[in-house]
Amino acid sequence: MSKSLDNFNMVIFGANGDLSFRKIFPALYYRLKEKQISNESNIIAIVRNKESYSSLKDKLKEYLFKHISNVRDESLNKLMNIVEVVLFDIKSKDTHNNLKKILNSNNNKIRIYYLATPANVFGPISNILGKLDLINSFSRIVLEKPLGKDKASSKKINKEVLANFNENQIYRIDHYLGKETVQNLMVLRFANYLFENSWNSNHIKSIQITAAEKIGVEKRGDYYNNYGALLDMVQNHLLQLLCLIAMEPPTLLSAEEVRIEKHKVLKSLRSFNKQNIKNAAIKGQYSRGNHNGSLIPSYLEDIDQFSSNTETFIALRTYVDNWRWKGVPFYLRTGKRMSDKFTEIIITFKNVPHNVFLSANPIVPNKLIIRLQPKEKIEFLQMIKIPGPGGYRYKPVSMKLDYQESINERFPQAYERLLMDIVRGNQTLFMSNNELSASWDWVESIINSLEKSNHKMTLYSAGTNGPGEQVLTNNDSWNL
Ligand code: BG6
Repeated sequence: MSKSLDNFNMVIFGANGDLSFRKIFPALYYRLKEKQISNESNIIAIVRNKESYSSLKDKLKEYLFKHISNVRDESLNKLMNIVEVVLFDIKSKDTHNNLKKILNSNNNKIRIYYLATPANVFGPISNILGKLDLINSFSRIVLEKPLGKDKASSKKINKEVLANFNENQIYRIDHYLGKETVQNLMVLRFANYLFENSWNSNHIKSIQITAAEKIGVEKRGDYYNNYGALLDMVQNHLLQLLCLIAMEPPTLLSAEEVRIEKHKVLKSLRSFNKQNIKNAAIKGQYSRGNHNGSLIPSYLEDIDQFSSNTETFIALRTYVDNWRWKGVPFYLRTGKRMSDKFTEIIITFKNVPHNVFLSANPIVPNKLIIRLQPKEKIEFLQMIKIPGPGGYRYKPVSMKLDYQESINERFPQAYERLLMDIVRGNQTLFMSNNELSASWDWVESIINSLEKSNHKMTLYSAGTNGPGEQVLTNNDSWNL
C-alpha cells in the first residue's frame, strides 16, 4: 500500500474543464481509494459563475460514476466530501474573499494551486494570489502545457509566475513523465548493466521515438490549430522521452541531478536551418479517410475551416551533438488520425561487423523495442538459428517481456503519480525553466527553418500512417 501523505489543500482553477474531469479528479479518486489522501485534505474547485457553483458537484459525481471502472461508492462519496466548490474570478473582486477565507482557515497545510486553465491566465492568477497574500512557504503552483506559443511568450509567462513563486515551487506538468512505462525507462537504463555499456554511438545505429494517435483533434480544434503537432507533442512529450533515452546517468535520482542531465541533452540538440531541414522533416495534415467503411472527416472539416497550415503529423530526424551520441540519428514522429494508437521507442544496434556464416541470408541488427502504450512491453530482437541439419539458416525473433503481465497490478494513471509528487514536493518528474528554455531554442529553429524553406505540407488520408506510411515503416534509413 502507498504511504499516506501530509494533508493538503488543492485549489483547482478550471475545475469544470475537460482536463479536471478526465484526468485530475479521477486521479484524486484513485489516490483516495488507495488511502494516500486523508479526509483532512481538501480539494477546492474554483468556478467562475453561479450556475457552475451550484451544479459542479452533481455533474462531477455523475461523470466519475460513469467513467471510472469498478467505481466504489464509498471512495466516491469520500472524495465528494472533501471537494468544496468556491466561486472565484480573478476579474471580480467581490469573489476574492471566498478563496481567502477558506485558505486562511487552513493556514498550515500544504497548498497547491493547480492551473488547469489556458496559459494566458497563468500570470494574472499568480499575480492575484500574490496580491491576496495567499502564497506562503507551503505553496506550490502547477502549470499545464502549452506554456506559451514561442520562446518570448513562454518567457513572459514564466517571468510573471516567477515574480510570485520560486522556481522550486513551480511544477510544469508533462504527463508523459508520469506514465509508469516512461519512468521504467530510467530503471531499464540505470538498473541494468547490460544496456548501459552499449548505450552510445559505438553500438547504436539509430533511435526512433514514435507517438501515433488514432484520434483527431476532437473538440480542441481552436487550440490545436494554433499549435500543431510540433508544439502539441514534440516540444514536450517526445523531447522528454528523447532526454530520458539520451541523458547521462545522473549521480542521484534527485530532481536537481535529473533535470541538469536532461537540460544538457536539450542544449546538445542540433539546431535546424534552411539547409539541413530539407531532408530532415516531413509535415503532414490529414485529409478525409475511411475506417471499416465509415468516413473519417478531414482536419479542415474537424476544425470547420477552409484552409489551415497547421500540421497534424510531423517527422524529424535530429542529432544530439555530444560525445555519446555523435552521428546517431534520432527519428521523432507523431501524428493524429493514424491507423492505431501507440507510443514506442526503437533502439537499433549496429550490425555485426562480419558475417561468419558467409551466407547470403542477411543478419538483421538487434533491436530493443520499448512499447510505452498500450500493451506495455519490452522486446529484444535477436537472430536465432532455424533448427535443422544442413548448414546455418537463421532469422530474427523477438524476446518479449510483457510489462503489464509481469507486474500484474493496475497501472496508476500518469496524473496519480504526478499529483502525489507535487504534494511530496518532489520535482524530479517536472520540467525546469532551463529545460523549457532550451527546448524552445530547438523548436524555434524548426519553426523558422520550415518557414524559410517553404517546406511543403503533405496530405495523408485519415486512418493511415502518415505521409509515406511513415509511422509504421520502422524506418531508420530515411530517404525523403
Ligand atoms: C496531450 C496532447 O498533451 O497528449 C494531445 O495535447 C494528445 O493532443 C495527448 O492527444 C496524448 O496523450 P496520451 O497520454 O494519450 O498519449
